[in-house]
Amino acid sequence: TVVVRREMKKSSRWAKAIAIVKEFEEKCETPCEKLRQVADAMAIEMHAGLASEGGSKLKMIISYVDNLPSGNEEGLFYALDLGGTNFRVLRVHLGGREKGVISQEFEEAIPPHLMTRSSHELFDYIAQALAKFVATESEDSRPLPGRKRELGFTFSFPVRQLSVASGTLIKWTKGFSIEDAVGEDVVGELTKALDRVGLDMHVAALVNDTIGTLAGGRFYNPDVIAAVILGTGTNAAYVERAQAIPKWHGPLPKSGEMVINTEWGNFRSSHIPLTEYDHALDAESLNPGEQIFEKTISGMYLGEIVRRVLLRVAEEAAFFGDKVPEKLRVPFILRTPVMSAMHHDTSSDLKIVASKLKDVLEITNTSLKMRKVVVSLCEIVATRGARSSAAGIYGILKKIDRDTLKEDGEAQKSVIALDGGLFEHYTKFRMCMESTLKELVGEKVGKNIVIEHSKDGSGIGAALLAASHSKYLEA
Ligand code: GLC
Repeated sequence: TVVVRREMKKSSRWAKAIAIVKEFEEKCETPCEKLRQVADAMAIEMHAGLASEGGSKLKMIISYVDNLPSGNEEGLFYALDLGGTNFRVLRVHLGGREKGVISQEFEEAIPPHLMTRSSHELFDYIAQALAKFVATESEDSRPLPGRKRELGFTFSFPVRQLSVASGTLIKWTKGFSIEDAVGEDVVGELTKALDRVGLDMHVAALVNDTIGTLAGGRFYNPDVIAAVILGTGTNAAYVERAQAIPKWHGPLPKSGEMVINTEWGNFRSSHIPLTEYDHALDAESLNPGEQIFEKTISGMYLGEIVRRVLLRVAEEAAFFGDKVPEKLRVPFILRTPVMSAMHHDTSSDLKIVASKLKDVLEITNTSLKMRKVVVSLCEIVATRGARSSAAGIYGILKKIDRDTLKEDGEAQKSVIALDGGLFEHYTKFRMCMESTLKELVGEKVGKNIVIEHSKDGSGIGAALLAASHSKYLEA
């Protein structure tokens, strides 16, 4: 009877765990009708954000980029890309149509402690890395006499642009939180740090990563009309008609167009499925109440959501045995790349899942049945994120009337440049996002919508924009 009792206890715990997972799954559901409502809400908020400053949760930031690369840009430019998990420095040789782009780069993880200290420390660190990079270069990379090196600065946070080469930080997002930088001119901060390390460089463009990616994508393909980042954070930029921006009081650009950084990470709608785990994650985050869309989609958060559900089944259903694995209590310990590796485990005994649980969470002796539950949690979380991001893209297509066929029955080709680690490395996420977008736009229009990976487009795009806004350009 002891054995019987033990078995009964086990099966009731199992039932409890399954019930928790099932409930979570139901709450995360994203049927097409719901996604259409998300897309409609997105398009409405886009209108509101363009109408007036502060008119919507969507900031719809005017980038001052009204002329995208033509492919003819030439010269040697630098780019600095800051805003996710890594930062990068690039030297970009633009060779016009003939020679294309040759770039050399250096990439490094941002030391986590610098994300929450002072503006001074962060910018000094970056300036030093840039100085080191410049110091290694050959004679022929030196600027001509009387000229300075020019830099495109990709800074992937919401910035109120004052011009194409200046702007003030509105707030931090993702893992950053440096009080004294908020409200400051980021180019001013960078320039001061460059001075401190004795590097004579001119910042010719300040861009968001979405804007850089759009510019980088456009260099290779003139049909690119929007760019989306699915990485540590998520965001989108697109080309808008200047006349459709009531809050723009500047002169009408020659092109008639203006690139808008939507900052869609801060989108929020009652149609986005949110669970108790999302609410708890948000409440305990660096920016409670903000970036809700981002918190259900992007790489910084997906693994953390899975961890929270696992912790709950461990606590309430003794899923991993009588003792709750201590590591499971550590916020952000389960990173999205680990989640992705588990989700893509194709071995019949799920040995990658077993080894990740052991190495990352110190959970040993899992049964195959348990490992399958872990995989299904990854599936639930990734699917909701991927489908929501597809709805966001659909919302943008709606806003610019690219979601239907033209009167002559032809659809215009719309290319969307995508970048970010989540898109690049999480295959199931990417595939789900792409198939959902097809599902939403329908087969006919779907044929003319192309998702293009613009690898490292944001850095090259920033260099291209530095080139087209160079202070040495002959008027
Ligand atoms: C966050 C930032 C945004 C950036 C995105 C992707 O949402 O606020 O500016 O584009 O992450 O890096």
